[in-house]
Amino acid sequence: MKRKQKRFLQMTLLFTVALIFLPNIGLWSLYKDKHLVKSAEPGEQQTFPLGLGDGQFYSWTDGLRRKDWHDYESIQKEAMRSGKGEHGKPYPLTEEDHDDSAYRENGFNIFVSNNIALERSLPDIRHANCKHKMYLERLPNTSIIIPFHNEGWTSLLRTIHSIINRTPESLIAEIILVDDFSEREHLKDKLEEYMARFSKVRIVRTKKREGLIRTRLLGASMARGEVLTFLDSHCEVNVNWLPPLLNQIALNHKTIVCPMIDVIDHNHFGYEAQAGDAMRGAFDWEMYYKRIPIPPELQRADPSDPFESPVMAGGLFAVDRKWFWELGGYDPGLEIWGGEQYEISFKVWMCGGEMFDVPCSRVGHIYRKYVPYKVPSGTSLARNLKRVAETWMDEFAEYIYQRRPEYRHLSTGDISAQKELRKQLKCKDFKWFMAAVAWDVPKYYPPVEPPPAAWGEIRNVAANLCVDSKHGATGTELRLDICVKDGSERTWSHEQDRTLFHPVSNSCMDCNPAEKKIVMARCDPLSETQQWIFEHINMTVLEKLNHHASS
Ligand SMILES: *[C@@H]1O[C@H](CO)[C@@H](O)[C@H](O)[C@H]1NC(C)=O
Ligand SMILES: *[C@@H]1O[C@H](CO)[C@@H](O)[C@H](O)[C@H]1NC(C)=O
Repeated sequence: MKRKQKRFLQMTLLFTVALIFLPNIGLWSLYKDKHLVKSAEPGEQQTFPLGLGDGQFYSWTDGLRRKDWHDYESIQKEAMRSGKGEHGKPYPLTEEDHDDSAYRENGFNIFVSNNIALERSLPDIRHANCKHKMYLERLPNTSIIIPFHNEGWTSLLRTIHSIINRTPESLIAEIILVDDFSEREHLKDKLEEYMARFSKVRIVRTKKREGLIRTRLLGASMARGEVLTFLDSHCEVNVNWLPPLLNQIALNHKTIVCPMIDVIDHNHFGYEAQAGDAMRGAFDWEMYYKRIPIPPELQRADPSDPFESPVMAGGLFAVDRKWFWELGGYDPGLEIWGGEQYEISFKVWMCGGEMFDVPCSRVGHIYRKYVPYKVPSGTSLARNLKRVAETWMDEFAEYIYQRRPEYRHLSTGDISAQKELRKQLKCKDFKWFMAAVAWDVPKYYPPVEPPPAAWGEIRNVAANLCVDSKHGATGTELRLDICVKDGSERTWSHEQDRTLFHPVSNSCMDCNPAEKKIVMARCDPLSETQQWIFEHINMTVLEKLNHHASS
């Protein structure tokens, strides 16, 4: 029998069985408990949605029960809503609504925010496949952590209402609002009074201005849920946003997941996908966050399935609470703001975890026109970036200093505890990360190779001869020859990646370790057989040499 026919017969049989057993709930539930959780035949993955008559749908593929987590009642209610800004439509702005004062305190148009409903409806812009996806019936619960500083009243409230309305209650352990020392009056007693209506909302406050990183850490340290979900204070979560995130963590707890971040326009609050929608997180060598297309090698048969992302955008993600602390949380030496998304991303990948973007989870975010308050300590970003680079990026940090020479002299503070953590967690090196995870990043952002650490001839002291490479019948071979002043064919450059480059033959010194033979080969900076270490290098002298050579 053909495979397809066999499948069809199997399906028909199962459907018949389901029909027989369905009316008899008692018998059915007995059958369900005994057989439904049984694993599928090895090598054959099956998914059969079966109606149980109570609006829940179960399926099995791997012995785990799954269900449809959509809240159809609330979806229906939302569909009926009408008014300005409903369904994520742009608010119809007049000339005077564009008045700059509307933006001054928040960086977005607070007038518009005040004039659309706190519980406004959003368009379901997920991939069509998301509507039929089922997730594990038993998902971990989560603490939702929302740091804020001087947030607008209606934008903060809309964030909370959207969470309460679009999240299954059983999955929320608590919502922790962490106030980073706000001054605005509405964020004090008035906020406490308003939030009293939500039993799951807790408000905690820092005692002085701490900055985003320590504020998030404070929230995480108070959290009791199994998963930590970090959100911003001016967001709107979209339909069924949480189950797909928690599902991925339930399958492998060493996973960080990020929702797709949609754009809430800071002028008219229209809701739409980012340009290009599903893209991978990346970085250039000045450590600016970038988005690049998902390479064909990683594209899934179902484009709504989660895909690997080398680095996260920053503010919106979920992570297993215990694992977050096993990873040391954020490096506590990071100050105020910036670089923390790289730290956690590199750490997750290099220390045995994975990171995914989840297309079926969507969260809208207001990208502000400008940050309306002073961000303390302007140097924190550069210092943080250097700290992350020195802790995690190994020799690749040099690429950053090439672009940002001013970073070379910046102090990172003591990173020995971070280095020790890296050792203890047996993390892989950054070279592995670049080769296995971020392999497509250099195609978009090629690093500039640093100048050589040494160059010129390589003279053997005893023989007073120089290393030369000659092209002969048996290929390029190495030999000793008389040193000639300005003999360019005898000139090498020792690169900072430890390769010995021979410009004339455009090749590098290589070796065959098994045969103990030195050969010449096409340069490959990642190949260890091409890396040579000089016993003594005086970096001070070399740096001076480099300086003279380039000026
Ligand atoms: C979250 O889940 C854990 C484990 O099932 C449970 O012990 C805890 O009570 C739950 N928390 C809340 C607030 O539901
Ligand atoms: C490197 O050379 C400089 C200048 O000649 C010298 O002052 C310094 O001591 C040397 N450093 C080492 C580690 O040899």
